[in-house]
Amino acid sequence: MTVLDVRDLSKGFTMHHLGTQMGAFSDISFSLKEGEFLLLKGRNGAGKSTLLRTLYRSYLAGGGEILFHSNHGVIDLARAADVDVTHLRRTEIGFVTQFLTARPRVSAEALVAEPLRLAGRTADEARREARHWLDAFGVKQELWAAYPTTFSGGEQQKVNLARALILPQRLLLLDEPTASLDVQARAALVNRLAELKAHGTAMIGVFHHPGDVASLIDREIDLTPDAAPEEDRKDVAI
Ligand SMILES: Nc1ncnc2c1ncn2[C@@H]1O[C@H](COP(=O)(O)OP(=O)(O)OP(=O)(O)O)[C@@H](O)[C@H]1O
Ligand SMILES: [Mg+2]
Repeated sequence: MTVLDVRDLSKGFTMHHLGTQMGAFSDISFSLKEGEFLLLKGRNGAGKSTLLRTLYRSYLAGGGEILFHSNHGVIDLARAADVDVTHLRRTEIGFVTQFLTARPRVSAEALVAEPLRLAGRTADEARREARHWLDAFGVKQELWAAYPTTFSGGEQQKVNLARALILPQRLLLLDEPTASLDVQARAALVNRLAELKAHGTAMIGVFHHPGDVASLIDREIDLTPDAAPEEDRKDVAI
């Protein structure tokens, strides 16, 4: 079953201080089924993060369609109302970056458990699962009740992953989630992604070490402008 159908998607930025327009990417088309994994490639500045943010609707698309086949029907994320996007982000679309949004006086355990609480699980059940994932990603037990604002970069990233991956989503976007992780945590991440893939989650990701996820990749898109003629890129994309 199709999860995402992206058609002729384009995005540019207006550089107000320069009075110019800058294109980030143009005419991207691809579709993704349940359990499929798409790797985004391209040099620095090629538009990988911008494409993910546009799909997540942090950025508005310049043109094209992002047809998301949600549990409630098809919705064009390029045009959907903010309230619908907010709801989908809580229930069906996840986004993992390398950065944790830690909140003052919220423990690691509570942060990780929060998506489950919002999905209606009991406090006990949510805490139990949160601990399981903190442990799986290698956050030491002394830190579970502590506030992540003071954690190291890698520790924060592990909490971030535990929180982002605790609840299976229909679509998961990943922007270099492994950037400062140790080997053990990278392995835990790959295991979890394989589990989610088997569960039917469609994924689009940029990876610092694409070799880590080689076994999961179904398709690749290279956003480097001169990576291949436009037609070839479309062929790869479809
Ligand atoms: N909010 C913004 N305003 C203006 N320009 C932006 C904005 N966000 C991104 N850009 C520009 O869009 C281009 C693509 O950036 P993007 O972050 O998507 O690249 P990337 O492929 O993720 O690169 P990297 O590998 O370095 O992470 C860059 O030239 C960047 O300067
Ligand atoms: Mg980027």
